[in-house]
Amino acid sequence: MKKRIFSGMRPTGRLHLGNYLGALKNWARLQDDYQCTYCVVDWHALTTGYEDTAGLKNKVEEMVLDWLAAGLDPKKSVLFVQSSVKQHAELHLLLSMVTPLGWLERVPTYKQQLRELSGRDIATYGFLGYPVLQAADILAHKAEYVPVGEDQVPHVELTREIVRRFNHFFGNVFPEPEALLAEVKLLPGIDGRKMSKSYGNEISMTASSEEIRDKVQRMVTDPARIHVKDPGHPDVCIVYKFYEAVASEMATGVAEECSKAGIGCVRCKSRLVDLLDQMIEPLRKRRDEYARNPDMVRQILEEGAKKARKTAEAVVAEAREAIGLWR
Ligand code: TRP
Ligand code: SF4
Repeated sequence: MKKRIFSGMRPTGRLHLGNYLGALKNWARLQDDYQCTYCVVDWHALTTGYEDTAGLKNKVEEMVLDWLAAGLDPKKSVLFVQSSVKQHAELHLLLSMVTPLGWLERVPTYKQQLRELSGRDIATYGFLGYPVLQAADILAHKAEYVPVGEDQVPHVELTREIVRRFNHFFGNVFPEPEALLAEVKLLPGIDGRKMSKSYGNEISMTASSEEIRDKVQRMVTDPARIHVKDPGHPDVCIVYKFYEAVASEMATGVAEECSKAGIGCVRCKSRLVDLLDQMIEPLRKRRDEYARNPDMVRQILEEGAKKARKTAEAVVAEAREAIGLWR
């Protein structure tokens, strides 16, 4: 029996290379060794974005296309949208009964986001309960491992605490999930800040050859390198950071050539363009195939929801029974 994995991502529309190398590539890899369930968490999107939901459906669709492009495979994994499996909401409610307010107020992302998203009114019940909903996602599938980034570790920790408290009251229903941290390739944006759509410094996950060329052209290199003869400092160069992230086996060579002025930035960039283009090409192809076939995508999500519902319903029934609710 394969161990169970669950992870979720908020529907943000098209993804960028940072999302691919930091998460999706790993999710795709895990499919062979684990029973994976991957969920588009549209309810979670509401917790911080309930005033503006006009683009939500479209964002779900675009992101799912990128998931499929990245190699998430409906034959191996369960892929579904959170709001089509109501059992997550029922479990959220049950878990909310045993979750002390103090635990939620102490979650680091809670205070931080309250501060950072100060333009929006997120002093809501739903937002405070964000990690309880996340716990419900994970526990509805009795997942043993949760592949996430560093920032999500407190949420998985909280899930474990909720499990202990629930099991203490009602018997041993849930396993304690563990965060699965991948060795992430940190990819900066083309300006050197964190890659993010809100900075406009991203390269999309299925960028066209033209976009790749344009974005690499605009990458900041070693400013001290004015002439080709000047030795460069790869450690301050964004192009070099990309080599490290997408072709680590070439990075040492690039660094050596650069620091003895054996290669010029123009050639160095054009090699990176080719590398990225080669890496992205199969993703682009897969995305196009699915994009031409929206019915197929819809069906993948329906099938996924059906499977997820079956698993979640059995788990939630067990929780109801353990609590002693009317049946
Ligand atoms: N909170 C996660 C994030 O922002 C998304 C998420 C929701 C999730 N439910 C989950 C991640 C369950 C892992 C497991 O990235
Ligand atoms: Fe950067 Fe390459 Fe130019 Fe060196 S040669 S500064 S690594 S682009």
